[in-house]
Amino acid sequence: QDAETIMAPAILVTGGAGYVGSHTVMSLLERSESVEFEIVVVDNLTNAYRSDDQKKPEPLRIIEEMTGKKIHFYELDIRDREGLNKIFAAHSIECVIHFAALKAVGESVEKPLEYYQANISGTCTLFEAMRKHGVYKLVYSSSCTVYGEPEKLPLDESHPTGQGLASPYGRSKFFCEEIMKDLCRSDPKWMVISLRYFNPVGAHHSGRIGEDPTGIPNNLMPFISQVAVGRLKELLVFGNDYPTIDGTGVRDYIHVEDLAEGHVKAIKLFKQPGFSGFHAVNLGTGTGYSVLQMVAAFERASGRRVPLRVTGRRAGDVAANYADVSLALRLLGWRATRTLADMCRHTWAWQSAHPQGFRDC
Ligand code: NAD
Ligand code: WQD
Repeated sequence: QDAETIMAPAILVTGGAGYVGSHTVMSLLERSESVEFEIVVVDNLTNAYRSDDQKKPEPLRIIEEMTGKKIHFYELDIRDREGLNKIFAAHSIECVIHFAALKAVGESVEKPLEYYQANISGTCTLFEAMRKHGVYKLVYSSSCTVYGEPEKLPLDESHPTGQGLASPYGRSKFFCEEIMKDLCRSDPKWMVISLRYFNPVGAHHSGRIGEDPTGIPNNLMPFISQVAVGRLKELLVFGNDYPTIDGTGVRDYIHVEDLAEGHVKAIKLFKQPGFSGFHAVNLGTGTGYSVLQMVAAFERASGRRVPLRVTGRRAGDVAANYADVSLALRLLGWRATRTLADMCRHTWAWQSAHPQGFRDC
C-alpha cells in the first residue's frame, strides 16, 4: 500500500464483512460521490466467511470484483485497542460506520457477558480510539429493539427506549445509545447518527452478495429462503394468536439496499454546517407485514412452496412493530423505495444461486 493511497480520506467500517456492513460498503463504492473516500473495513470474522485461499472475506472480495475498487481489510477485534490505534494512524479516517456486534437475541440470553463485552466494551474501545485520533463523526447500527413493547404504532423516535427490553442484546443497543448521548453532552465535537433499523432483509439485486447466517437462522427471511431452497424442511410460525391481521407477528421489513443507502445519506449530514450532537433515526418502510404475508410473497417471488407449521409464541416477541419514517425523510432526505416483492426476489436470487451461502461462491 503506497502512502498516497493510504492517506486519502477514509471511512472506517467496523463489521463491514457482515450482512448490513457489506451491502453498505457496496453502496458506498457504487456511488460516484463516494469515490473521494477510501474504505477501511475492520472485522474479526466471527460472523463472516473467508475461504482458506483468500486474504479477504468473500463478500468484500466479490464487491471489489464488481466495483473494480479496493477495500482495505483488517482482521481485527474492535476490543483490540492497539490494533485500532495502528489503523487510525495509518489511514486518514474522517468518519466511522459502526456495525460490528454480536446480534443473536436468543444467544445473548445464554451468554450476556460475551454480548456486553463485544457490543459495549468493544464500542467504548472504538470510541476511545476515535477520540484519541480526533475522529468525532459516527454512524451507529441501532435497532427498533430499543423501543421494547410498543406503546403506540407507528413507532417514532420520541417513543421511550430501554423499558422492558427482553434480551441482553437489546439492552446492549440501548446502553450504547445512552453512552453516545453522554459523549455528545461531554463534547460538542461529536456528531452521532444512531440508525434504528427495523427488520433488514433481501440481498444485493445482482444476487451476488446476501445474508449468510451461520447455523440455523434465527430470523424469518433467511429461514423462509432456506426452506425454499431445500436446506430446511419447514418453517415454524411462532404463534398465530396475536391481535394482527391473521394472528401472526407483524414487522416492518426493509430491503438491505435501502438500508445501506440510508447510511450513505447519513454520512452526507456530517457536511451540513452546524450539525452536531446525537440523532436517532428510524430506518424502515413504515409498513408492516405478517409472517403469513411474508411467506405468500416469497412463494410468489420464488415459485417454490414454503411448508409451514404453527407452533407456540417465541419468548420476547411483540405482536406488531413498524416505523414512523418521517424523520428519516426530513433529516436525511431518505425513504425506502424497494417493495416487498423486491425484497423476496433479491433474497431468492442470492439464495438460489448460493444454497450454502458464501461457501458456494
Ligand atoms: P452480521 O453479524 O452479519 O455483521 C456483524 C459483523 O461484525 C460480522 O461480520 C462479525 O464478524 C463482525 N463482528 C462481530 N463482533 C466483532 C468484534 N468484536 N470485532 C470486530 N468485528 C466483529 O450482522 P448484521 O446483520 O450485518 O448487523 C450489523 C449491525 O446492525 C449490528 O450492530 C446489529 O446489531 C445491527 N442490527 C442488525 C439487525 C438485523 O436484523 N440484521 C437489525 C437491527 C440492528
Ligand atoms: C420476525 C417475525 C417472529 C422466525 C429481530 C431482533 C431485532 C432486530 C431484527 C437486531 C416474528 C416470526 C421468525 C421463525 C417465525 N435485530 N418468526 N418463525 O424478532 O422482529 O427482530 O431482528 O437488532 O432486535 O429481535 O425478527 O426475523 O426473528 O422475526 O414465525 O422461524 O417472524 O415470531 O413475528 P424480530 P425475526
